[in-house]
Amino acid sequence: MNSITIQPAASIRGEIIVPGDKSISHRSIMLGAIANGVTTVHGFLRGEDNLSTMHAFRAMGVVINDDGETIQITGRGLHGLNEPGDVLDCGNSGTTIRLITGLLSGQSFFSVVTGDQYLRKRPMKRIVEPLSLMGARISGRNSATLAPLAINGGPLKGIDYQSPVSSAQIKSALMLAGLYADGETSVSEPSLSRDHSERMFRHFGASLVRNDKGVTVRGGVELTAQEVTVPGDISSATFFIVAALITPHSELLIKNVGVNPSRTGVIDILQEMGGDIQLLDLREVSGEPVADIMVRSSRLKGIAISGSVVPRAIDEFPAICVAAARAEGVTSIRDARELRVKETDRITAMAGNLRKLGITVTETEDGMDITGSEQLLGGTVDSSGDHRIAMSMSVAALVASASITVSDIACVATSFPTFFPLLEKVVSK
Ligand code: S3P
Repeated sequence: MNSITIQPAASIRGEIIVPGDKSISHRSIMLGAIANGVTTVHGFLRGEDNLSTMHAFRAMGVVINDDGETIQITGRGLHGLNEPGDVLDCGNSGTTIRLITGLLSGQSFFSVVTGDQYLRKRPMKRIVEPLSLMGARISGRNSATLAPLAINGGPLKGIDYQSPVSSAQIKSALMLAGLYADGETSVSEPSLSRDHSERMFRHFGASLVRNDKGVTVRGGVELTAQEVTVPGDISSATFFIVAALITPHSELLIKNVGVNPSRTGVIDILQEMGGDIQLLDLREVSGEPVADIMVRSSRLKGIAISGSVVPRAIDEFPAICVAAARAEGVTSIRDARELRVKETDRITAMAGNLRKLGITVTETEDGMDITGSEQLLGGTVDSSGDHRIAMSMSVAALVASASITVSDIACVATSFPTFFPLLEKVVSK
């Protein structure tokens, strides 16, 4: 279990590019694999989570070449995947296991999916239940609520499903199953979660209709290979945005970041807290909005965060907690129960870590209250094996009164293998 010790910084300055978007990278492999023709992907994120997706599709006979620049996926059509010869190991990746389970439900073969010690604790009932309503035959640990899951693929029928939680993984699992189902599959959610699947399904020629409640996919329509350019991941950019906001004398330009409105909740939240963040040169690439983001040091104030902005910022709460720890007054986070079932329980993990730095935090069932302070203490904190906790606490270290050691940081490689070298590049001591 390796750790890193980070010293306080004098400023964050310069220009960076963050690696490709994790969600879009996963989907490019999945849709490329079941399309007809060769899909080329530029800007693919070579993080461990995405490599899990790549390995799973290779294990089903899909030829995927990586020349170091682009990824080329030779699609096998909707019904061309092979039965895998072994268990598909999804590692730490919730997106891999949940989306692939949807897709595997409609195949004419048997498969088993599993993951690491963290993934095997995460809830799977949320996909197994609606997939079973479509006719999927899935069994697994603890009455099919935990991985490993065994999938006896077969014919599916379309359903109209109202998801009780806003989750792009649930929605996307059903959309992928819907490609194989008889008739139409509709999914709605309390408020919109990231819509990368909807955009990419369209890009690949799926029959899809969207309305304000959700999305409907028609089954049996073949997909056509495409060229996909993956923008920088706003979730990765967030660590640098917060770093530049809270560190004095900072000015940072982050180029080529995906700014899909279903992902920019973090920008709205940090701007409301008083953050000086500007989106420059807004453009569209492969059906996704992209911009350069300019950030300058700012005096932040506590705000109340709840409602529909929460799913639009769901992965950014660990970093938002760090911004809140430095803001004047109290930041309250509510309607964020989903944070308890991420790579770890992010409410408890962040509350515990911030308390170690002398911050007052009160946990609630669906969020927390954080009282900001000018003073963050040094010390040792733990990632709980969660990449976003590790990176958030590394950012907190930049403004602490003494160095902070973050333990168990290997997990950073799941989404952002170059995080520490990139941080080193923009930090002045
Ligand atoms: C993701 C959806 C979100 C998010 C995860 C990636 C996706 O999960 O937290 O990091 O790519 O669909 P939920 O669907 O569980 O909210």
